[in-house]
Formats: sequence, C-alpha cells, structure tokens
Amino acid sequence: MALAKTKLSVSEPSLDPSNIPHHIAVIMDGNRRWAKEHHLPAWEGHRKGAETLKQIVEACGDLGVKVLTAYAFSKENWKRSKEEIDIILRLFNFYLRHERENLYQNGVRFQAIGHIQEMGEKLREEFRKTEEYTAENSKLLLNLAVNYGGRTEMVDAVKAISQKVKNGELEVSRIDENLISQHLYTAGLPDPDLLIRTSGELRISNFLLWQMAYAEFWFTPLRWPDFKKSDLVQAVADYQSRSRRLGGS
Ligand code: FPP
Repeated sequence: MALAKTKLSVSEPSLDPSNIPHHIAVIMDGNRRWAKEHHLPAWEGHRKGAETLKQIVEACGDLGVKVLTAYAFSKENWKRSKEEIDIILRLFNFYLRHERENLYQNGVRFQAIGHIQEMGEKLREEFRKTEEYTAENSKLLLNLAVNYGGRTEMVDAVKAISQKVKNGELEVSRIDENLISQHLYTAGLPDPDLLIRTSGELRISNFLLWQMAYAEFWFTPLRWPDFKKSDLVQAVADYQSRSRRLGGS
C-alpha cells in the first residue's frame, strides 16, 4: 500500500514519507562570504551558520531523517588565521554548552567524528559531555565532523586493520568492503543517501570519501547562513525524483 504524501506548506513540495533519505551529509559552506555580503565580520557568518545548523537539525528530525553528518571543521581549516580558528573553536564550545539540553529534549544523539584528541582539553570535554548526555536518544543522530579529513579517516582504518592482522586477530582474506566500513569513524551507520553543499562549490572537499560512493549530490548557490528548512525540503524532493540504481540496472 502506498503511503500518502506529506504536504508541508503551501509553497513546499510534497514529500513521500516512505522515501526520506536515511542519512544526509552536509557541507556547510559560505559563512564568510555571507558575512562579507552583509558587511559584517567573518565571525558573524559563523555565528549565523551555527544558528542554521540548529534549525536544520530540528528540520531533519521533523522530516524523519535518522542521521545528519555536518562538516564543521576540516583538517585543512587549520590553515586559517589564528583569530578565525579561535572564534570557530569558541563557537563550538558555546554551541555544545548551550545546545546540549536542547539536543537531549529533541531526541537527538550527538557524536563528534574526526581527530577530536587534537582539539584541546576544554573542547574535548564538552564533546564528551554532550555525547554522554545524549547517548540514549534515537530520533536523530547528529554527527559533527570536526578536525575531520576523509583521507585521514581511511589511513586510520588501514592502520587499525593492519594492527589486527599483525596481532594475528584478523586474516587478510577477511578484509572486504564491509570490514573497511566497520573501521571508519562512521562504523555501524548507513552511508549517506544525499550530500548537500551550499555556496555554489561543486566538490566534496575530502568529506566522507568512502561513504559517499552512491550518494546523490545536491548543490545550491545559497550561503549556509541563508539555508532554511524549505531548502532542505527542496533537496529531499529532488532526491526523491531521482532513480537510484546503486550500480544495478
Ligand atoms: C564554512 O564557511 C564554515 C566553516 C568551515 C566554519 C565552521 C562551521 C560553522 C561555524 C557552522 C557550524 C557551527 C557549529 C557551532 C557546530 P567558510 O568559512 O568556508 O565560508 P566561505 O566559503 O565563504 O569562505
């Protein structure tokens, strides 16, 4: 039996509730350009970007998305000025302390993926507390990619697998795609069905390289601070209009 389509609002397209992407990955790009276009300092763009993330987490929960992986800080972002890095790190700190209760109340489980160990003790502690506080939630998993790099993630997986082979815990013949997936930071999660990137760039910038093998891509010129629930709905509607053959006929 076909499920009735959900009408979200007059202007938004109808979505098929039986075909909501299980896992959405998002590259939140364009914070600084947004700030510049509004004659504001860069940190205002990041602050507004953090607000947008809050709204999109809520919207994903409403739509029935089960996993949202958001690219918040890449390994390459350390090349930015010390001032900007400090502001972004302080924003993470503020977000975690102020959003912890809200995430918990909204049924969101929080997880940080990436080299969190290099993020400083204070921030590491906030990540840990938020993960622990929301650990029992199951409506939506928010994976925040912080100090993350897709190639580094693969290197880490190769090292972990090699170590097991060296210790005699694993036979080389047992290494397959599933085993590699189980050694990534996203172990146990389904691969992303949909990647959204804002701000007009048409690349994946070292994000979830292995996991993105069959993801549908959706790009928008909108800056991340301007991205809204209605844009998320557009992206999902477009996703639903595509035929996903996953390599089959
Ligand atoms: C991308 O825009 C933004 C970042 C790399 C900074 C981090 C992301 C946020 C502040 C949003 C999420 C926040 C929290 C607290 C979880 P950009 O700076 O690369 O902008 P540009 O492409 O216009 O230069």
